[in-house]
Amino acid sequence: MSLIPLMLDPKEREVLVVGETDAALRRLAQVRRWSARVRHAQNPTPSELAEAALVFVATEDDDRNAALAAHLRARGVPVHVHDRPDLGTVAMPAVVERGDVLVAISTRGSAPVLARRLKEKIDQLMPARLGSLTRLLDGFRDSVRAVLPGFEPRRRFWESIVDGPAGAAALAGNEAKARELVVAALNGRGARHNAGIVHLIGGGPGDPELLTLKAHRVLQDADVILHDELITPAILQRVRQDATRIDVGKRKGRHAMPQAEVNALMVRLARDGKRVARLKGGDPFVFGRGGEELEHLRAAGIDVQVVPGVTAAAGCAASAGFPLTHRDIASTLTLVTGHGKNGEPAADWRALAATGGTLAIYMGLTHAAVIARSLREAGMSADTPVAIIVNGTRDDERVAAGTLGSLPRLAAGEGGKGPALIVIGDVVRLAPAWSEIERLEAAS
Ligand SMILES: C[S@@+](CC[C@H](N)C(=O)[O-])C[C@H]1O[C@@H](n2cnc3c(N)ncnc32)[C@H](O)[C@@H]1O
Repeated sequence: MSLIPLMLDPKEREVLVVGETDAALRRLAQVRRWSARVRHAQNPTPSELAEAALVFVATEDDDRNAALAAHLRARGVPVHVHDRPDLGTVAMPAVVERGDVLVAISTRGSAPVLARRLKEKIDQLMPARLGSLTRLLDGFRDSVRAVLPGFEPRRRFWESIVDGPAGAAALAGNEAKARELVVAALNGRGARHNAGIVHLIGGGPGDPELLTLKAHRVLQDADVILHDELITPAILQRVRQDATRIDVGKRKGRHAMPQAEVNALMVRLARDGKRVARLKGGDPFVFGRGGEELEHLRAAGIDVQVVPGVTAAAGCAASAGFPLTHRDIASTLTLVTGHGKNGEPAADWRALAATGGTLAIYMGLTHAAVIARSLREAGMSADTPVAIIVNGTRDDERVAAGTLGSLPRLAAGEGGKGPALIVIGDVVRLAPAWSEIERLEAAS
């Protein structure tokens, strides 16, 4: 069987759905989303059938379905029979829609499950706001044709809009800015329109499946990717493979590129018209210097957008199997850095000990002894449960659990194995690793 792909506009004719089954009702609801010219007909007359633009057949009776299909085929009326592609003359594709953009997937009716899986994948790849982008392009069609009558210049213009900051603004939901950028480009004030853009992207704690759909899409579009050493090879496999990659976390041996150099590089690349992905571990705005980079880029007049990521606390807790808050156990969650601007942590330990909630301490392993002592001096009990999660969400994740009293010893054992998060609070008791500790304590 060979199929010809096409999209149907029934115009003044009707689409009929024949049958009383659930499949018929689902089909009716589906087709109504696309066209008002659809009618549910339990017992259509021969003339209703002959005049239909298309008939969906889904009655309970297989023989009736076959007879209706034969009748329609003989009269040249396109027909679709539920679950019997061999009887019909049309196949219904799986569909992914974003506004006016419609992607249809067909396996000639032979593998609907495969079509659904493909649909899920395409659905993940298609930006949620593609509809805004098509609206934007449609709205400017006449003006662009008037300003650029030639086909080639017009094509290049549209490419630069779709691939440039105007397209990015539309996909980010900022339609006003997108329109402003198209108008500027049309008026020849195209300096900004040729300029690049920087996305500050959160890559999550390591598991590539924790990348957001948005991060994934932007990483597929980027010309240059500047990434930290926290970004795992598994995540780098998901970025556009011909993009230039710069590891700003490990230049010159083990030393990271100084922040001022990273800032200057991002500005230079964006001014060269590049789409720059600044890919950071976790979330860019949680101890990730995303705030500093944002300020710098804004001050330099560079377009910048932020794509949040799963921060280490969320990823590690999920992976280690305990919640960060709990209605009966912890009503606050405080994210703390264990590495102050000048090294030693500079936190208000008394205030932290007084929350009674959960503390998630980033970059705290080196100073774990100071942290434990300071919290105990501030009144926190030495029995407070503690977990250290190293390489959270990655294949080599390790979870060590103990108490505030044993934190210095635990931390000494976990040092140098990878990024580590310390979580302090009663929620840790809900971790599977905690029941093992209680079992061992009970046995000793
Ligand atoms: C510079 S901070 C960046 C935090 C990141 N922006 C975030 O939102 O997760 C680096 C620290 O985050 C924590 N971290 C990041 N990824 C981690 C992981 N996979 N497992 C455990 N801790 C992690 C560690 O405390 C590490 O020292």
